[in-house]
Amino acid sequence: MHSLASVILLVSAGARAVHGATVFAHFMVQNSYSYSQTEWETDIKSAKQIGIDGFGWQADRIDDAFTVAEAQGFKIMYSFDMNYASGQDDCPTGVAWNTSYMVDRISKHATSDAAFKWNGDVLVSTFGGELYGNDFLASLKSAASSAGHSITLAPALDNYSMAAQSDPQTQAAKVISDYPSADGFLNWQAWPLNEHANLTTDADIAFKSAFSSAGRTGPYITAVSPWQFKDLNEWGNWLQYSDTLFDYRWKDAINTVKPDIIEILTWNDFPESHYIRDLPPASETGPASLQLGDAGSYVYGIDHSAWRVIAQYYISWWKTGSAPEVTEDRVVYWYRIHPKDAICSGGTVPSNSDFPTDAVFVWALMSSEANISTTVGSNVNWEFNADESSPKMNMIPFPTDLGDGVYPMFGVVRDGITDMAGNGTVAITSSCAYQNFNPVVGLVGAALSQNKY
Ligand SMILES: *[C@@H]1O[C@H](CO)[C@@H](O)[C@H](O)[C@H]1NC(C)=O
Ligand SMILES: *[C@@H]1O[C@H](CO)[C@@H](O)[C@H](O)[C@H]1NC(C)=O
Ligand SMILES: *[C@@H]1O[C@H](CO)[C@@H](O)[C@H](O)[C@H]1NC(C)=O
Ligand SMILES: *[C@@H]1O[C@H](CO)[C@@H](O)[C@H](O)[C@H]1NC(C)=O
Ligand SMILES: *[C@@H]1O[C@H](CO)[C@@H](O)[C@H](O)[C@H]1NC(C)=O
Repeated sequence: MHSLASVILLVSAGARAVHGATVFAHFMVQNSYSYSQTEWETDIKSAKQIGIDGFGWQADRIDDAFTVAEAQGFKIMYSFDMNYASGQDDCPTGVAWNTSYMVDRISKHATSDAAFKWNGDVLVSTFGGELYGNDFLASLKSAASSAGHSITLAPALDNYSMAAQSDPQTQAAKVISDYPSADGFLNWQAWPLNEHANLTTDADIAFKSAFSSAGRTGPYITAVSPWQFKDLNEWGNWLQYSDTLFDYRWKDAINTVKPDIIEILTWNDFPESHYIRDLPPASETGPASLQLGDAGSYVYGIDHSAWRVIAQYYISWWKTGSAPEVTEDRVVYWYRIHPKDAICSGGTVPSNSDFPTDAVFVWALMSSEANISTTVGSNVNWEFNADESSPKMNMIPFPTDLGDGVYPMFGVVRDGITDMAGNGTVAITSSCAYQNFNPVVGLVGAALSQNKY
């Protein structure tokens, strides 16, 4: 059996929220095998810089994470991946966890200042758990309690979350009756599920109110994610409609769902294209490297770090309770690098490949009123107006003829003068080596300061 992998989250305690709002980012610990304390420190600083948190493990790595988190004033929350062995030949039942091992892990760091607590308990989350059922979770809680470290459990029972996309009330009631041991809940579905429609908050509202009405005392956790595309052969090959998701989902979470905790999916899940961490080096060896295998074909060169500018803005809004003052001009843009109908020489066309719009998406936050000009090949100088009150968005379609490739161009214009300009770093082309639906993300304007690996 594979070494038991799980995930952890870090939460920054640095900027404690005025009204107790907390933001985690999900960290895949299995992607930290090349980490020493230096890489943990870089990730924690980069997360803390924008107001978050979040990461995952192998047993020996997590000790370093706690050491660095303690020094940096960060928090860590265990999130056990209870689906990880599902479908693997060497673990036919998929049931790989046992409570004594889990309690050992929890106990080891339960008294650390970096252990995230909820009502005085260690907060523990999961991905999945349906295979194990309520009795297992109940025995985990009682075993932890016997070991002297009582836990509050907020599992991500994703089968309920998926089903809740079409039937929120029934699924919310069902998880309450099926899982009396769930103190809180993490709704993992941060993407519309196999439909060409924007995600609604119906499932979040139903789960949150069901847990509250049932008198459960754990946190309700809402997930926010920028994208979903993966091409992992037998492990799945899909896309979910995410064109403007990162912007509207933050607003929905802050203004409509108002959860106890917001969790960003994810810090570093590169194969599912929802990473916001800096790219790993393409060398596959050395500090902060990753062996991405086939996923490298759609990850290397496709930077997402500018999405952290958007996260920083909304996290600040969430923590302070009001729209932040804007002092810098910033334009964040993202685009897929091939039209959706392009037939590439490698990779596989994912399910739902007709959902995304062939366009460059532009998100602008200005310190004062400006026109944001975008050129995408023959679509020249498309303008929209932005200001300091809130971010504004626009999309500029790909031109029909991409020629040998088109680099989008962006400008911030005031009274006819271009104050700031920048170009996309990757060309949009119709000839292609891989069916890549992972968008490149870039920034025009003041970059977040770099924490180097
Ligand atoms: C519990 O899981 C750990 C880690 O996989 C394993 O080493 C141990 O043998 C298991 N214990 C029992 C009783 O199954
Ligand atoms: C959860 O959903 C998956 C996919 O629909 C299904 O294969 C699995 O049997 C479900 N698990 C449980 C425990 O209901
Ligand atoms: C999703 O919302 C955006 C605005 O945020 C809108 O432009 C777009 O048309 C919506 N998509 C669908 C499929 O309704
Ligand atoms: C933006 O463009 C409009 C239309 O051309 C113009 O009236 C307005 O003055 C421009 N705003 C700025 C800040 O340049
Ligand atoms: C963007 O590319 C155009 C065309 O190559 C070039 O003229 C312009 O200087 C570039 N702009 C920036 C800000 O690099």
